[in-house]
Amino acid sequence: MSMLEIKNVHKSFGKREVLKDVSLSVEKGDVIAILGPSGSGKTTLLRCINFLEKANGGEMVFDGETYDLGHMKRADIAKIRKKTAFVFQNYNLFANKTAIDNVTLGLTSARGMDKAEAKKIGMQMLEKVGLADHANYYPIQLSGGQQQRVAIARALATNPEIIYFDEPTSALDPELIGEVLGVMRGLAEEGMTMIVVTHEMNFAENVSNKIVFMEDGEVLESSASDEFFSPAHEHENRRINEFLKNIRAQHEA
Ligand SMILES: Nc1ncnc2c1ncn2[C@@H]1O[C@H](COP(=O)(O)OP(=O)(O)O)[C@@H](O)[C@H]1O
Ligand SMILES: [Mg+2]
Repeated sequence: MSMLEIKNVHKSFGKREVLKDVSLSVEKGDVIAILGPSGSGKTTLLRCINFLEKANGGEMVFDGETYDLGHMKRADIAKIRKKTAFVFQNYNLFANKTAIDNVTLGLTSARGMDKAEAKKIGMQMLEKVGLADHANYYPIQLSGGQQQRVAIARALATNPEIIYFDEPTSALDPELIGEVLGVMRGLAEEGMTMIVVTHEMNFAENVSNKIVFMEDGEVLESSASDEFFSPAHEHENRRINEFLKNIRAQHEA
């Protein structure tokens, strides 16, 4: 049984249908890269499945339980969120809190964990992202790459079953992208289940095991990463070839 299944998600903003019947399934340990042009609905999909946005319809099966995405109960949202974490493009750290306090906040205020225990876990997570020596720095004293690593440590602190990443390196200067992708690669190697919206084709090709390609609110192709990037593979839609060609040209420019 899949760990997470998303079935037939629909989402409209006003009259504009942004997700048109999107489905995907996630096995434990999967690293799924969601690719696709800007405006195709990637962020909206992640936000709908973490209830930052309310879907109009669709189903979620998570850990064997089925939920109606159009009619989620608050208690169910809270229950699912305890097992998931989200990493945003712009880090979303609290500017007035140190790195360690950002990492432990979800443990102390949201989960009522005792401060000393939270700090111990928080320091382990900062260690894991290579920032134990920056625990008492404020976000403004950290580079974008370091801030995003703190955000990843914060995600890890709650011991999630799955982490959603929405373009985690898009806001970074090119020289800082590698340190964040390196941390994510480490998590993948440890078997962390992740869904990653990204334009980093090397990450998609070499770290993720599955690709979901979206355009205009639909999944155009869903395939194994090896297959997706194989030169011999015929994409189901020629727009995928164009997208890949363009993005590679941009990266080589
Ligand atoms: N809160 C919103 N209100 C209205 N339209 C939105 C909102 N969020 C996203 N959209 C629209 O939904 C479409 C998909 O957006 P998004 O999910 O951000 O795409 P992507 O992440 O693939 O770039 C876009 O046309 C965008 O303008
Ligand atoms: Mg987006």
